[in-house]
Amino acid sequence: MRYEQIGEVIGGTPLIRVDALLPEAARAKGIHLFAKVELLGPTGSIKDRTAKALIDDLLFKGLLTPGKELLEPTSGNTGAALAVHAAARSIPLTLVMPANVTEERRAFVRALGATIIDSPADQGSNGAVLLARAMAKADAKYVSPDQYSNQANPKVHEVTTAPEILTDLPEVDVVVAGLGTGGTATGLARFFAREKPSVKIWAAEPMPGEKVTGLRSLEDGFTPEVMETELLAGRVLVNSRDSIMAARALARSSGILAGPSTGATLAVALRVARDAAPNSNIVFIACDAGWKYFSAGLGDGNLDEMEDALEGDVFWW
Ligand SMILES: Cc1ncc(COP(=O)(O)O)c(C=O)c1O
Repeated sequence: MRYEQIGEVIGGTPLIRVDALLPEAARAKGIHLFAKVELLGPTGSIKDRTAKALIDDLLFKGLLTPGKELLEPTSGNTGAALAVHAAARSIPLTLVMPANVTEERRAFVRALGATIIDSPADQGSNGAVLLARAMAKADAKYVSPDQYSNQANPKVHEVTTAPEILTDLPEVDVVVAGLGTGGTATGLARFFAREKPSVKIWAAEPMPGEKVTGLRSLEDGFTPEVMETELLAGRVLVNSRDSIMAARALARSSGILAGPSTGATLAVALRVARDAAPNSNIVFIACDAGWKYFSAGLGDGNLDEMEDALEGDVFWW
């Protein structure tokens, strides 16, 4: 394969059958389980697609012209992916993140040439959003893609992620995605409502008060503009511990090392499998790579300590 720049190496991720994770009763009913392995992109997450789509959208609308700079409050997957795409296209990028974000993540985006502005650690992600908004207001050179309200976010899943699933598995019956911005779930739901309405889209959502890195509870009081929950078959609540344990089980039984939000989608897929009709084909989104969470103990750390480590880690989407 030959490309003009690394940012073109997006999508086309594989579906991998992981039936070994299903209970024997489900396997006996002819149910199959597939992981859509999004962690294989340039920064190891589904946000590789989103970041490209957001930048393409700003360029298409003529908002990102020479002299302008990208500005986004994120220290997580979107920040990493924006850093790759911005570097590949020589676009200056500033990321606003709380001062206590781990050195691993700072080093990653700095290595790609992004500028980091610290927001007060004690104000968490909200403090970073406020500071980024104030900066954008004060200086017209900044352009913010804002994945929470930008329709380019769900659209990229409607035109790439979803059709890839249908092409690779025309017999698909269920797809499970995690709810972060809601871009993935909404895009999938829009596509399947049109192209194969029998397909049910379920969303994995953290239980109120539980942290599953990358996902958000709608009970937190903020529903992103791009999220259309009425298109979903339903939202299933998962806790942090089950998400971590499912991610570990996936790694050990299939060799796919993914993060806690993948564990959450897998946990929901297994619940759906319990009541699914015979011969159902269930897909769950493997959102990001597990190596991003080693310092939090994903591999073999003590579960209580890992929950505590991720508790402070509220800023990953
Ligand atoms: C690790 C991880 N999993 C899942 C998601 C959910 O994706 P979306 O924002 O499309 O809902 C995100 C991003 O928000 C994420 O960073």
